[in-house]
Amino acid sequence: TDHSAFDTDVWTLTRFVMETGRKAKGATGELTQLINSMLTAIKAISSAVRKAGLAHLQGLAGSVNVTGDDQKKLDVLSNEMVINMLQASYGTCCMVSEENKELIITPKDKRGKYVVCFDPLDGSSNIDCLASIGTIFAIYKRVTEGEPTEKDALQAGKNIVCAGYALYGSATLVALSTGAGVNFFMLDPAIGEFILTERNVKMKSKGKIYSMNEGYAKYFHPSINEYIKHKKYPEDGSAPYGARYVGSMVSDIHRTIAYGGIFMYPANEKSPKGKLRLLYECNPIAFLIEQAGGLATTGTQRILEVQPEGLHQRVPFVVGSTDDVNEYLSFVKKFQ
Ligand code: AHG
Ligand code: MN
Ligand code: MN
Ligand code: MN
Repeated sequence: TDHSAFDTDVWTLTRFVMETGRKAKGATGELTQLINSMLTAIKAISSAVRKAGLAHLQGLAGSVNVTGDDQKKLDVLSNEMVINMLQASYGTCCMVSEENKELIITPKDKRGKYVVCFDPLDGSSNIDCLASIGTIFAIYKRVTEGEPTEKDALQAGKNIVCAGYALYGSATLVALSTGAGVNFFMLDPAIGEFILTERNVKMKSKGKIYSMNEGYAKYFHPSINEYIKHKKYPEDGSAPYGARYVGSMVSDIHRTIAYGGIFMYPANEKSPKGKLRLLYECNPIAFLIEQAGGLATTGTQRILEVQPEGLHQRVPFVVGSTDDVNEYLSFVKKFQ
């Protein structure tokens, strides 16, 4: 019989996570349960995003978070779903969320050995215009014993055990890495499962797109404006780069991984450390970009080596194809 149109041995993300977990030495299944809980939260958020306009989920919640963002209803809803699902996995001891000022400590009877830092809904200014948004997370092993403390969460990104993002785009996709490359999974809404669609994704070493909010040019350091000028008016006769900026980091990053190029949110006079937050935005994305063969830097330091000092600290963020990021760094050097 011809089964060619119907795969009878599908690699779902759940299966992939279980298989990877079984192969890890000394594994207890705790991380597997934790990742699967995160994926369940992501499916629930995807469903909420898809019906936001119908279910009165658009618009503001009426509150402001610790980094000064107006919280949207979907920010609050997604945050609650992630926290509840992760605590129910018995795999966490504490968590850091963009939407919670303080460290979120897991109730004693539900504790496990992992720490999760997450951005429950990234790009929330794009909710009400129906552009793509996302979810970002990084998982670490705790480093203290006894009551969980901020020290467990203030780890450098190079300690990440697993990181991923979900993109609620024209389809829902998850990019995941446990330190052995990056894999892409697409949500099949018919079965409610993520299906492995691309294994061991590698970025091009050079792209044709630059991505940044150029509206802040007035406030940028001259090195950034010089770099942009070079992308628009190349002196060597090569073609200028295309410009793309969704304003949802997950979308801009997913395109950068898929097509190559550079994405940046540099410091500017108004935001001396940029906007993006180290623990739950920059670190997980830097980990995935490096795993896909790209580079992630503040302009002076590898992102994954930055020692965090605060749960919500910001860092200048420049990521992408190796040649493009290195070219950017040469402009930084010129101005030193
Ligand atoms: P969040 O919606 O999680 O607060 O993140 C918003 C971020 C990020 O997604 C995007 O890259 C950036 O804000 C856009 O900022 P600008 O509007 O300043 O360009
Ligand atoms: Mn926000
Ligand atoms: Mn964000
Ligand atoms: Mn967010």
